[in-house]
Amino acid sequence: MKILVTRAWPKATEDRLTNAGLGDVTLRHPDTPMSHDEWMDAAKTYDVIMPTVSDKIPAEFYPAAKGKVKIFANYGVGFNHIDIDAAAANDITVTNTPDVLTDCTADLAMGLLLAAARRIGEGERETRAGKWEGWRPTHMIGKKVTGATLGIIGFGRIGQAMARRAHNGFGMRVVFQDAWEVPEDIKAANGNAEQLPSMVEVAAEADFLSLHCPGGADTYKMINAIIFNAMKPGAILVNSARGDVVDEDALFDALDSGKLAAAGLDVYHNEPALDPRFLKYDNIVLAPHLGSATDGTREAMGFRAIDNLEAFLRGDTPGDLVTP
Ligand code: DGY
Repeated sequence: MKILVTRAWPKATEDRLTNAGLGDVTLRHPDTPMSHDEWMDAAKTYDVIMPTVSDKIPAEFYPAAKGKVKIFANYGVGFNHIDIDAAAANDITVTNTPDVLTDCTADLAMGLLLAAARRIGEGERETRAGKWEGWRPTHMIGKKVTGATLGIIGFGRIGQAMARRAHNGFGMRVVFQDAWEVPEDIKAANGNAEQLPSMVEVAAEADFLSLHCPGGADTYKMINAIIFNAMKPGAILVNSARGDVVDEDALFDALDSGKLAAAGLDVYHNEPALDPRFLKYDNIVLAPHLGSATDGTREAMGFRAIDNLEAFLRGDTPGDLVTP
């Protein structure tokens, strides 16, 4: 069994994988993205590939890997970098790593919300630059978080964790949109959240709009001019989900018109090559995809990916099977 780990993992997880006796493990160091040629070689070389969310897997990989690559045991909960239909069509099983990063991602989303609302990035830059002129009544006024309304798009694990933080910690009213009809007890346990019928209605109610839906074709540029136009003037967008969920042109327009007061972002189209326009806005907090980046969480993600692989190789159904 030849196993490829596409990026460097935390040492404890690499150690467990190499000592698990599952096969011949290749750990790709140094930690650089795989080129197109490497992917095409991997299609003919490995039985198991353990990719991660920043991998760019060429479309030609899937048919080339048929009969050789048996599983993508993904390191990460998001799997929009994997073409699930093409994987299924070419007999490649896919697993992911939910649960273990829920709290940390929601913590980061709350941090972005606070930083954008209270202008922490701008204030930090001003202070570092030696431009702070001292306390004054009109200096760097932000938006009050306590008691405001949070709109959530996507009420899965991370959306629910965000709702709890906002409601329990900051007394926020929580409204959300999701395709599934969420049972009353789940809404009550997660911030007394209210389900609204559409994204537009959530956007219209929200002082803060936080995205917690998956990326991929179904949600591509779903947060667009229609949603921004529906928002209250001075609202704030938080995105810790996937960059491609937001139409970035529409985002810049909403910031230019003053419709949006600010944004707190962890994810972007075409990461890490950000649209240079982002750098012009002082009222956008820019984080480099840090949602799950805490000690313990990145290990837990690796262990979960290995658990899934072990189950698959035993002939069991992996706990975190992803299906089209
Ligand atoms: C994931 O696992 O999908 C996250 O985006 C990584 O932080």
